[in-house]
Amino acid sequence: MNIIWKSPSKHLTINPQEVHIWKTNLEQLSIDFQNSFNLLNEEEKIKAQRFHFEKHQKRFTLARSSLKKILSFYLSISPQDIKFQYSDYGKPKIIDKINLINLQFNVSHSEDIAIYGVTCDYFIGVDVEYIRPMPEAENLAKRFFSQKEYQQIRGLSSEEKNREFFKLWTGKEAYLKAIGKGIGGGLEKVEISTHKPIKFINLPECNNINYNLLYLTPHDNYLAAIAVEENEQTYHYWQLN
Ligand SMILES: CC(C)(COP(=O)(O)OP(=O)(O)OC[C@H]1O[C@@H](n2cnc3c(N)ncnc32)[C@H](O)[C@@H]1OP(=O)(O)O)[C@@H](O)C(=O)NCCC(=O)NCCS
Repeated sequence: MNIIWKSPSKHLTINPQEVHIWKTNLEQLSIDFQNSFNLLNEEEKIKAQRFHFEKHQKRFTLARSSLKKILSFYLSISPQDIKFQYSDYGKPKIIDKINLINLQFNVSHSEDIAIYGVTCDYFIGVDVEYIRPMPEAENLAKRFFSQKEYQQIRGLSSEEKNREFFKLWTGKEAYLKAIGKGIGGGLEKVEISTHKPIKFINLPECNNINYNLLYLTPHDNYLAAIAVEENEQTYHYWQLN
């Protein structure tokens, strides 16, 4: 799929039939680090400063400030005024008072790339991973994937094994982030058929709602998965520089 990532104008609208996917290159944004840090509130600054490694501090700061910039395009308020509350499992959500259009979102970052999914009304989860050699892919699959998926992965050559591992991992995590549980929600319970069309075949705690599963390559060597409550949606792609 050849994606054209558009640059946003000052104000954006979204309706329930649209899914907006955003990407940022955190490395490029780091030249303006101080400005990004200034967009965080006190609680977020404390969280940023708690990271042991500077690169994690930077990544959190840049991804969080970009998220606020992105959401401000839809909510027409300044990024500093975007405030979140958190579910029991840590999923951030915009506080109701400023979220008059029921904007839903989710974020993922890996190395230099951050991906954001934005919808109106529908739950969304995203996961991006930097694709690297995973010599332990088979063991991780045994531990965290379903029996069927483990057997499927076992039989593959090492290159295919790696690819398949990340495909399953990101898809599962995207769904578990959509429902807000995170990986504690049980990676093995989320089953994906990787035969085309790739789709979810088993979803825990979905309340009889189907979820669409979309994969994309936001940058060389990165894989992103998007899980969104099923509806007749069209996908739109944006880039924040
Ligand atoms: C959410 C989770 C899957 C993220 O994994 P990861 O691969 O390290 O990180 P990603 O880059 O993909 O996603 C991070 C983002 O997901 C979001 N997030 C955090 N918890 C989330 C949850 N439960 N569901 C959905 N999204 C969540 C945040 O926006 C976070 O970004 P941040 O840098 O602004 O904090 C993982 O941390 C997890 O399972 N958390 C749940 C932990 C839990 O149960 N906590 C209970 C006590 S709070």
